Amino acid sequence: MSESVEYDVAILGAGPGGYHAAVRAAQYGAKVALIEKANLGGTCLNWGCIPTKALYASADLIQTIREHGESFGVNCDAKLNFAKAVERKNNVVKELVEGIAGLQKAWKNDVYFGYGKILGGNVNEGFDISIEGKDTTTIKAKRVIIATGSSPAMIPAFNIDHERILTSDDILDPKFNIIPKRLLIIGAGVIGCEFANIFATFGSKVIMLEYLSSPIATEEPMVVKELQKKLESLDIELNVSQNVLSVENTGSGVKATTCDASVPRDQVESAEKSYFEADYCLVSIGRARESKDIGLEELGIETNRGAINIDTKTTETAVKGIFAIGDVAASGAPMLAHVASYMGDVAVANALAGLGGFPVEEKTTDYKVVPATIFTNPNIGSVGIRRKQAKDLGIDVAMGRFAYTSLGKAKCAGHEEGFLLILADKDTHKIIGASCIGAEAPELIAEIALAMQHGLTIHDVGETIHSHPTISEMVLEAAEDVFGMAIHKKGRPSFH
Ligand code: NAI
Repeated sequence: MSESVEYDVAILGAGPGGYHAAVRAAQYGAKVALIEKANLGGTCLNWGCIPTKALYASADLIQTIREHGESFGVNCDAKLNFAKAVERKNNVVKELVEGIAGLQKAWKNDVYFGYGKILGGNVNEGFDISIEGKDTTTIKAKRVIIATGSSPAMIPAFNIDHERILTSDDILDPKFNIIPKRLLIIGAGVIGCEFANIFATFGSKVIMLEYLSSPIATEEPMVVKELQKKLESLDIELNVSQNVLSVENTGSGVKATTCDASVPRDQVESAEKSYFEADYCLVSIGRARESKDIGLEELGIETNRGAINIDTKTTETAVKGIFAIGDVAASGAPMLAHVASYMGDVAVANALAGLGGFPVEEKTTDYKVVPATIFTNPNIGSVGIRRKQAKDLGIDVAMGRFAYTSLGKAKCAGHEEGFLLILADKDTHKIIGASCIGAEAPELIAEIALAMQHGLTIHDVGETIHSHPTISEMVLEAAEDVFGMAIHKKGRPSFH
């Protein structure tokens, strides 16, 4: 047993999984060590959700002025000052990171900056953890939560050089100050589409290459179709079914070579090729888990393509007393910041309940209701299952749909694009999913997520008074439309 400080819980990684778990554990009275190799807040705060949303806010303002300024009687020229937008983004990040530091201090958590590695130990004697970096030391903890997250996925043939061929980390670096004339984006998933919207608005000619036959293929096809219309209106060139074979930095730009995605792997060499050129390239093809060199092999904790195997209900690994949460864990849930935070709650409860003496009981995860958001313009929000999934599951579905253009508040604000779609089980009338594209879509989905979490029916939502005039009436109208009873939509009730 080392003479190092002993903690109830040590947490590796201070992203939305780790920093949240650290605060939660302290709230229950635990002595907590939070270990971070880079910045508090992790990817989400420093290179992900937050900086993109700050840049998105600049793009959104430009689009609002361009699209509505004149008709709203506000004449001004929306010219981008990119340096200023980046400075604002950096300040937003800085303030939030400082806020996280303030929270840890307020809860008397010890924050160690350095690379954490579990050296060994067990659930009875605790675990030794080395920290190398600014705060080099060794600590001991009774329980460990791994929350080391993920990083942009790399493919050798894409030659990511961080100069012209970039990841989202590079573009969101505080010093990145280029608006490429032509930006090639590989991967039309969440990150690809969010950056396409931002940079096309900032003036880049955006060319996207996507392997699948549709962008953000996880979303409801009707929603994707609506998004594609908007991407086209921004002059974004979307090329689907593209197998990107290589990307090169040509010195003065980038060049990607592709073939049709339907070509079998062993015939790629002889297949007909297409070439795409641009000034810079963003590779956004998913994320790789950060599970190397943290002591897993020595402890006998297995990974599957980098994802740490856990008991998906408790978040505990095969080694009792060590838990893994967030992107790094093989949870079966989407790699989202709010999933990581949620898993943090479960891991902390199980870690402290196992230790005993803390006012918390064991918890198990439930991923039935995980809202997801995409900050394109318009925004996208979704929760629960899609129509295709319902069909595959053999659920008889009743669907309600309401368009923003029929809503008073949306018209006043010029937010007439998009719709909200609610799915209910035809037998029980319980809400089983919703998809929305349009103004405040992620906020609208929050109400539906709460309703689903508590097993509510569309009637429960329909009988709830929604303030007028608000965008939240979209939820009311779409719920009422399930049986043809939306007031501001023509049509007959389906039970007549
Ligand atoms: P993603 O999984 O959303 O999309 C990657 C896309 O790249 C897919 O459409 C895939 O088919 C395509 N792709 C993969 N390999 C390819 C290849 N070789 N050539 C062409 N296309 C290829 O991953 P993304 O966009 O990198 O996002 C990573 C994670 O971050 C996701 O889990 C996402 O949910 C999360 N995220 C969440 C945000 C939010 O909540 N608003 C914002 C940004 C990211």
